[in-house]
Amino acid sequence: MDRKKFYITTPIYYPSDKLHIGHTYCTVATDAIARYHRLKGEDVMFLTGTDEHGQKIEDKAKEAGVTPKEFVDRIVEGKGGVKDLWKLMNISNDRFIRTTDDYHVAAIQKIFKKMYDNGDIYKGTYKGKYCKPCESFWTESQLKDGKCPDCGREVQDAEEEAYFFRLSKYADRIRDLLENTDFLEPRSRVNEMVNNFIKPGLEDLCVSRTSFTWGVPVDFDPGHVVYVWVDALFNYTTALGFLNDRYDDYDRYWPADVHIVGKEIVRFHSIIWPAMLMSMGMPLPKKVFGHGWLLLDGGKMSKSKGNVVDPYILAEQFGVDALRFFLMRTFPFGTDGNFSNELLIQTINTDLANDLGNLVSRTTAMVGKYFGGRLPAGCGAAEAELDTAARAAGPDAIGVMAAGEPEKYDLELIALAASLRGRYEEAMEQYAPHKALDEVFHVIQRANKYIDENAPWALAKDMEANGARLAHVMYNLLETTRICGVLLTPFMPGSMEKLFSQIGAGPEGRTWEAAARWGVLPDTAVVTKGENLFPRVDMDKALAQLEAAEAEARKAALPEVELEPQLTEQVPFDTFCQCDFRAVKVKNCENVKKSNKLLRFTLDDGTGTDRQILSGIAMYYKPEELIGKTLVAIVNLPPRKMMGLESCGMLISAVHTERGEEKLHLIMVDDEIPAGAKLC
Ligand code: MSP
Repeated sequence: MDRKKFYITTPIYYPSDKLHIGHTYCTVATDAIARYHRLKGEDVMFLTGTDEHGQKIEDKAKEAGVTPKEFVDRIVEGKGGVKDLWKLMNISNDRFIRTTDDYHVAAIQKIFKKMYDNGDIYKGTYKGKYCKPCESFWTESQLKDGKCPDCGREVQDAEEEAYFFRLSKYADRIRDLLENTDFLEPRSRVNEMVNNFIKPGLEDLCVSRTSFTWGVPVDFDPGHVVYVWVDALFNYTTALGFLNDRYDDYDRYWPADVHIVGKEIVRFHSIIWPAMLMSMGMPLPKKVFGHGWLLLDGGKMSKSKGNVVDPYILAEQFGVDALRFFLMRTFPFGTDGNFSNELLIQTINTDLANDLGNLVSRTTAMVGKYFGGRLPAGCGAAEAELDTAARAAGPDAIGVMAAGEPEKYDLELIALAASLRGRYEEAMEQYAPHKALDEVFHVIQRANKYIDENAPWALAKDMEANGARLAHVMYNLLETTRICGVLLTPFMPGSMEKLFSQIGAGPEGRTWEAAARWGVLPDTAVVTKGENLFPRVDMDKALAQLEAAEAEARKAALPEVELEPQLTEQVPFDTFCQCDFRAVKVKNCENVKKSNKLLRFTLDDGTGTDRQILSGIAMYYKPEELIGKTLVAIVNLPPRKMMGLESCGMLISAVHTERGEEKLHLIMVDDEIPAGAKLC
């Protein structure tokens, strides 16, 4: 039988800077959803990639002194770049598209020509406003206080010959799509789109530029490059092989089941994208889901504001799975959330170390201690009846069972665990991974309570009388852990592998089907108490370590060596000759009292009379290390008073900046050179 297909995409990222935790959030969420569909046995295609054209990239490359292609190659393929980050975060994308790939470029040219030929793209003059960082054109009426409505930055006047896409023609169809179908979710985003963009009137969209060259050339009109968003949006189809021979999956996977995007690009995906697909006569994606932003101190993270959080540092310190879990567990997917390191640590400690970690380590430790790591055969068998009972009764019926009977707890736990998959699935299908995790943790908490209710340590005191009951309790805990483990796999794939091997769950126990069935784990499975899956984090220590790592990373990101720019204004030779440079020997050197900057030098300048020079270099040298050295001084400057002392001349040093820190080296010359020798 044909498996259900599921095509899911992330936005393709601008490789203009290193990616931050906000980008990571978007990709991890998409990955968890993709893995969930794979777990269900679907034929999943998960696409991500990079959006590499546009003026911003061209400008950045120029600043860095490299070609735009070299610039993006470094950020996409280089160490610590986009591909590295997704590998580290265990992202399971099936394909990665770069919009500079030849097959994509050629396909975009064909797409542009097709819309031109069908009359939906025409030539005109663009007059308006342009936001460079967002690569977005705006009309006067769309600006917010005269600034870009997305990022709040200054916009520039722009006027040039350009091609336009007849967006206005599709306004009614788009409005119908948004208002009368569930194409765009969450629902609140529909109101935003209709009120802010459709009601004021959709204007035609400028889709080519002539003021820069880093883009897909319009092949029938040299000088024009395709607007970066047209180039970018069609990646979802070219990566499947649309109008190219590189891939051959277009018929298999298009239309996409869902495009996961951040809220600021919902406009492009829910208005411009479907209109262009309508123009091309192509089927529309089934859904666009606009998630919220991760905020830092209440504001959007952005490199230019300097408030980005580095996912590498967090993953290194807390582990990839803990970070993935935190992102999905803490922030409701459709709305904004405030990121903080404290919240991250709290979530790790509460959910992972306390709840899940404790359940696993207590259960495996007790099976080890009381049963040598293997429960007696038959201990889970009775549960088959309980299973039927639990599922027939459902969790609501639990309340009518007599309190205080041990079986009541069994039934309650089993009913809750065996029905978990249904509740989890409902949440996942609504793109609410945070709710799905809530359901799983509700069961984990119930299981921890079940340990306390049954007090295995008390049962273990009389194994002869209670051994069978104790084995039963242990089996119920292992089985609950297994079911939760299966459903946590899309979020923490690496750790769940370890969990399964600790509780002895083989491949048949890890499947989607097995997540809705009680009694799959063999009752004699080999249980091993392994490493602690999620160690507790010491908040203060971890915060200090993070701060140090962030400072280190900030430093490493600064240029290694920065030099003062050379002066271009020329100095007449005679003027230069008026400066008298001499070799001087340091007879004495000491700190100036009450000054932490100044050193006081007593120098032999060859005249027979000591010369005193004060120099603000105390942070670079200890006075005693300079005594006896031969230095260079200008000796004919007018004397200056500093801290009440006279300074007659100036010592010459070399200065530069290293990783943001100022460095200074006194010029020291060969000690053979006699004091007073003229330097010219
Ligand atoms: N290149 C476009 C997408 C083209 S898709 C055809 C783009 N790239 S981006 O790199 O700027 O952003 C990629 C995704 O990261 C967007 O969905 C954006 O919303 C998301 N995020 C960037 N910062 C974010 C947060 N602080 N929080 C959550 N998501 C954020 O847009």
